[in-house]
Amino acid sequence: MERQTDERPGTYARRRAHFAILFFLLLAVGLFAWNPDTLYLWIKALHIIAVISWMAGLFYMPRLFIYHTDAEPGSVQSETFKVMEQRLLKVIMNPAMMISWILGLYLAWSVYDFQGGWLHAKIGLVVLMTVVHVVFSRAVKAFARDENRHSARYWRFMNEAPTLLMIAIVILVVVKPF
Ligand code: HEM
Repeated sequence: MERQTDERPGTYARRRAHFAILFFLLLAVGLFAWNPDTLYLWIKALHIIAVISWMAGLFYMPRLFIYHTDAEPGSVQSETFKVMEQRLLKVIMNPAMMISWILGLYLAWSVYDFQGGWLHAKIGLVVLMTVVHVVFSRAVKAFARDENRHSARYWRFMNEAPTLLMIAIVILVVVKPF
């Protein structure tokens, strides 16, 4: 019987992800070509969709690391976590992060001309969020080689970083306090 950890479902997941990214990009290109009065709002909606997908991955990944740390290297559980981590990173988090950056920079340029204390602070915090993404991405590779050196407690602590950054970023962009 075929399992989700087999190669074939992985290939289907990758294909579906590529199709979704292509659809997303064609939608953005179509909107630019059509150039409706509401283009800014459309791009903002796509930005928020991408950001939600990126955040979902950043919240879930350290939870997987916590359970993976407890699994015996070479065990069925450990191999299953490897597949889950790699698919989450490649199929959801990497594309969502790239689309969030591209559309966010367009929003920052087109209306705000990269001006405003709140915008500079927000971009600074999103850079930190990207650093967290890179730390998780390296950890996925370390876990794949059975070379994770961090404890479950460390991953529980790292779990808080994207949450705190997300709260500060949303307040900055919605309230624009300075
Ligand atoms: C990747 C780099 C990013 C850049 C350059 C960027 C920039 C921007 C800009 C300029 C806006 C438009 C603000 C407005 O029209 O009032 C916006 C909207 C928004 N961004 Fe980002 N953003 C980025 C990533 C993120 C992240 C990581 C989050 C959440 C954790 C986020 C959450 C939001 C939300 C919720 C809005 C809608 C705000 C509103 O309409 O009131 N963004 N972003």
